[in-house]
Order: sequence, then structure tokens, then C-alpha cells
Amino acid sequence: MYTEKVLDHFQNPRNMGELEDYNGMGMVGNAKCGDIMQMFIKVNDDGIIEDVGFKTFGCGAAVATSSMATEMIKGKSVDEALKLSNAAVVEALEGLPPVKIHCSVLAEEAVKAAVEDYHKRKEQEEQNK
Ligand code: FES
Repeated sequence: MYTEKVLDHFQNPRNMGELEDYNGMGMVGNAKCGDIMQMFIKVNDDGIIEDVGFKTFGCGAAVATSSMATEMIKGKSVDEALKLSNAAVVEALEGLPPVKIHCSVLAEEAVKAAVEDYHKRKEQEEQNK
């Protein structure tokens, strides 16, 4: 049912855990299954995501997709991260069963929410200057 890549990312999640010095955090959930995903990003002055972490309270596919998503945005600019689609995450995992596609949507949304939060914090910082 699951590809080896999915099982690998589920069993050995990359970048798992909260970052201590993040400057962007997104938390999203799926009302139907009740799963929750939190994404932390540390963006440097050049707008590059230097570090990323995640916490997922949910199914195995949600863990695998969040793990893969963190790998795909690490070292990228925030603009590039916004372009990450759930389809690209699924492709990188070499497929997901149809009933699990929504889990990858959660990963895309979590990345977008983290980038949004980063922009908001930056705006506030500018205002407080
Ligand atoms: Fe809902 Fe996987 S079953 S995120």
C-alpha cells in the first residue's frame, strides 16, 4: 500500500521537532481526520530557509509528507517554498494511496502557513523600528 520512500520517511522522519530559534511557524489541521501539523522555519536575512522542523500529530502519511516537505524546502528561498505543491511532495514520495492525498495537502498548507507567519513577523518588526 505504501511506497518504500513513504515508509522510510515515516520510520525515520527528517527534521522532526520544534526549532528553538524559528521565525516562522504554521499550524494547520484537517477537521475530518483531526490530524494536526506544525511547521517551523528559520529564515536568514537573505530570505533563505536555513533550518526547518516539524511536529505532526497524525497519521503515518502525514508524518512522511511533512518530513519530505521539510527536506524539499530546506535551503530554498521563502518564495520557492510557497511554490511547493502537495503533488510535488507525493511525487517525491513516489506516490500515496488516494485516501491519503489529503495528508500531503496538510504538508503544503503547513509550509504556506509558516511562510505567511514569517512575513507577518517581519512586517511587525519593521513597524516597531
Ligand atoms: Fe488525516 Fe493523514 S489521515 S492527515
